[in-house]
Amino acid sequence: MKQSVKMIVGNWKMNGVSASLEQAQAIRDAVAGSGGARVVLCPPATLVARMADLLDGGGVAVGGQDCHAKPSGAFTGSISAEMLADAGATVVILGHSERRTAFGETDAEVAAKVEAAIAAGLEPIICVGETLEQRQAGDAIAVVSDQVAGSLPDGLSERVFAVAYEPVWAIGTGLTPTLEQIAEVHAAVRVAIVARLGEGARTAPILYGGSVKPENARDILATAEVGGALVGGASLKAADFMPIIQAAA
Ligand code: 13P
Repeated sequence: MKQSVKMIVGNWKMNGVSASLEQAQAIRDAVAGSGGARVVLCPPATLVARMADLLDGGGVAVGGQDCHAKPSGAFTGSISAEMLADAGATVVILGHSERRTAFGETDAEVAAKVEAAIAAGLEPIICVGETLEQRQAGDAIAVVSDQVAGSLPDGLSERVFAVAYEPVWAIGTGLTPTLEQIAEVHAAVRVAIVARLGEGARTAPILYGGSVKPENARDILATAEVGGALVGGASLKAADFMPIIQAAA
């Protein structure tokens, strides 16, 4: 059976200034010669337009890290999906655990943002994941399945989208689940996606995120139902990110 192309997404979080565009350029140049994976970089909003210009026509797409659910209005400090698309983004990460925790985003709010993203023509990456307490209580599968059910709006069924499984306790900690645990949750996420949206959603990629590094990327990406990776810290430097991209090829 033909292996589908893996999606490798870099989430720069609140990191990156003008000088960081050099890293994006180095990633673009290296990707041009490697092929094999679909690569997306999600810089802070201040860099989206410049990065999109820089990477235009190359093999690396640009995404946002969040958007507002409304297209415009009196929401000081917020950015709409339409604005991201206008700046050159084609993808947007939504419902990241840092947004859910630090900004109190609920599943319903995430679902509204996903609707806004698809209305603007963006491809949403919807994040789910359990905390350490939830895992230790044996609730990981139930928590993640509930998040999928609540965060994926009806309108998504005919659209291109991805789900990212990011165990909260694995983000930025250097800890990762075992490959068996990743396979178990990804299988459950697939069941939840299909239960929510129907058979048409069986091919939507499910990315793994949380301490993905050059050393563990190959094994994680070879795990059942892992359609790619959502990478934080190791996406900031081309020297760390490229081996992860190459591990997906
Ligand atoms: P790290 O790769 O730094 O653990 O971050 C993962 C993440 O949150 C990506 O969205």
